[in-house]
Amino acid sequence: MEATMVSDAPKHYPVLLNEIISIITPQRGGTFIDCTFGQGGYSEKILSFKNTSVIGLDRDIETKKIAQRLLSKFEQRFIFKNKRFSQLNDLKLKSKNIRGIIFDLGFSYTQIKSSEKGLSFNSNGELNMRLGLNTFSAKDVINKLSRKELELIFKFFGDEKEAKGISIKIDKERKKNKIDTQILVKLIEDFKVKKNFKIHSATKVFQALRIFVNKEVTELINGLISATKILDKGGVLAVVTFNSLEDRIVKYFFKSLSEKKSVSRYLPSVDNEKILFNLLEKKPIIPSEKEIKLNPPSRSAKLRYVIKKNDFHEFKTDIFKKFQHLIKIENLGNRL
Ligand SMILES: C[S@@+](CC[C@H](N)C(=O)[O-])C[C@H]1O[C@@H](n2cnc3c(N)ncnc32)[C@H](O)[C@@H]1O
Repeated sequence: MEATMVSDAPKHYPVLLNEIISIITPQRGGTFIDCTFGQGGYSEKILSFKNTSVIGLDRDIETKKIAQRLLSKFEQRFIFKNKRFSQLNDLKLKSKNIRGIIFDLGFSYTQIKSSEKGLSFNSNGELNMRLGLNTFSAKDVINKLSRKELELIFKFFGDEKEAKGISIKIDKERKKNKIDTQILVKLIEDFKVKKNFKIHSATKVFQALRIFVNKEVTELINGLISATKILDKGGVLAVVTFNSLEDRIVKYFFKSLSEKKSVSRYLPSVDNEKILFNLLEKKPIIPSEKEIKLNPPSRSAKLRYVIKKNDFHEFKTDIFKKFQHLIKIENLGNRL
């Protein structure tokens, strides 16, 4: 699920990099926003073209170290902000002629390898999963939410078929013992008698917890809306997703703002001028066989993009309504 991964050596591979570059065309210069700076792979490549500048954002303060390296190399053309991309509006960027905004969702190789972050089921120690700028951790979720609430999280954010059984087991266990990462993994493994040999038994629960802890649904929706407001006419909005939940949100957002919507066939169709995006490719772009061989985790990557057709910065979207069931679950975290 992670974009920046390794095959055997711990090497950094920005996913679908050539495809991103051919879509955003930094060869023509201009200002770009890299909403998920990570290991700086996309930003550095964009900055290698003359007359470009990049504003890089990441919620993980650890990425600032990599940003420092780019800052010393491209002093005049690079800015880094330790912010969540849902806070894009705080940057007050509307007059900056933004030619492209990119999101490469999920987490990096460095983050999955960090035992402190505890994103991997191989980690030891306390449950965490905070990428940065969070208000609660996976430990709070596992200990403080009700059995039923845990079930909803596993079911809707992890598509975990055995969400109910696993949440019952957690509820029993937490009354007796403190649950850390390895206890959670063992508990899920013991529960799942029928093993799935393609993925680890704990994959779905771990994905669900990470999405919940980092409020990834709300982050993505607000990030997409803010990016759309900031982008210049003719600018590109490109998103790389790594799971079906993210992809559904991006696909809906792009599609719903790219098409005419006539409420009734007897009413005049919506003025073409009001359509916000040009959606050039309905199908997502996926990594080549060669890229997957080099970097196997890239196999779940999907790249979608749109071009902003119109210059208006305010627009209506029903995306909150469309995904309200997920937002409602995510809001359970507001109590923690
Ligand atoms: C897959 S990595 C990006 C890799 C990057 N494209 C590269 O080439 O190095 C995803 C990054 O997005 C960051 N991230 C995830 N959610 C975020 C959010 N809501 N706001 C800002 N950064 C976020 C993570 O901390 C992580 O560093």
